[in-house]
Amino acid sequence: MQNENPITESAVQTAVAAAVAAFSDAASLATLKLAKAEHLGEKSVIAKLNSLMREVPKAEKAATGKLMGQARAQVEKVYAAREGELAQEAAAAQLAAEAVDVTAAPIRRQIGGRHPLAQLQEDIVDSFVAMGWEVAEGPELEHEWYNFDALGFDQDHPARAEADTFYIADAPQLLLRTHTSPVQSRALLSRELPLYIVAPGRVYRTDELDATHTPVFHQIEGIAVDKGLTMAHLKGTLEHFARRMFGDDAKIRLRPNFFPFTEPSAEMDVWFPNARGGARWIEWGGCGMVDPNVLLAAGIDPEEYQGFAFGMGIERTLQFRNGINDMRDMVEGDVRFNAQFGGLV
Ligand code: PHE
Repeated sequence: MQNENPITESAVQTAVAAAVAAFSDAASLATLKLAKAEHLGEKSVIAKLNSLMREVPKAEKAATGKLMGQARAQVEKVYAAREGELAQEAAAAQLAAEAVDVTAAPIRRQIGGRHPLAQLQEDIVDSFVAMGWEVAEGPELEHEWYNFDALGFDQDHPARAEADTFYIADAPQLLLRTHTSPVQSRALLSRELPLYIVAPGRVYRTDELDATHTPVFHQIEGIAVDKGLTMAHLKGTLEHFARRMFGDDAKIRLRPNFFPFTEPSAEMDVWFPNARGGARWIEWGGCGMVDPNVLLAAGIDPEEYQGFAFGMGIERTLQFRNGINDMRDMVEGDVRFNAQFGGLV
């Protein structure tokens, strides 16, 4: 009796259909590989059918062999096509993931701004250096002698009171300088004559911080000692300086006043043509001819040398010049305030 052919056409078709379905269902290269092992590998239905070839009756061997060959070829073709599709999808996904958006807004780091007080201080110093003056500095932690005694302040002068001056708790003779005038005393003792110096710097007074006061502020001090200096030199120097700060039409007015270290002494006002709310006089600082006693204390003969000195607040200068209503804006350190003055670092 003739053997039955164990490889039926419907079994082959079922195996092919299962493989094609599995390959088209595979959503990634990894699942496609698993499906390949299952439907084309050694333990697959197709491999098992193939192993039955030995039992196929001779007369049908050729036809069945062809059937098996076509089945395998079809499955492999579907596999290759699907593999191509998935590889392309994966490449496209990777490109999309790695794409750089050249139109995206960049992350910008905020640039700092130089403080307008620092800029103004530099500007002030420059205008004196341009006239041949030198820059001097003194310590902010100062000895009472330089801050008061050498400048002729009486032992009971009200400015010495603790209500006005910051003293150092364990060193009663040390204080935070209340003005830049101690640099005058230091310069007179240490420099050769004639001398023309400006001394910018930080000073301290026990004021509450409000719109017009700050306990820490800046002054610019000037002192000139030479033969034949008069009040006219003082006024001319101040007028030149005022024009640099407040414009070509600025002028200076002196009103009698008293300072222990100048004689005569004056309060100086500056005429500011472009003041907010209209041109007006603004109290700007103090000045005077260096008191002969101050010169004598530094070993200088007042018959031979005369001097003039002046001092003003830098915050106050900035406040009027730039129309800043509230002095607190100057101490808060907000870079948006600084940036308005154009001093980018
Ligand atoms: N040191 C004085 C003050 O702080 C200002 C001043 C300086 C006055 C120089 C006269 C001469 O008020």
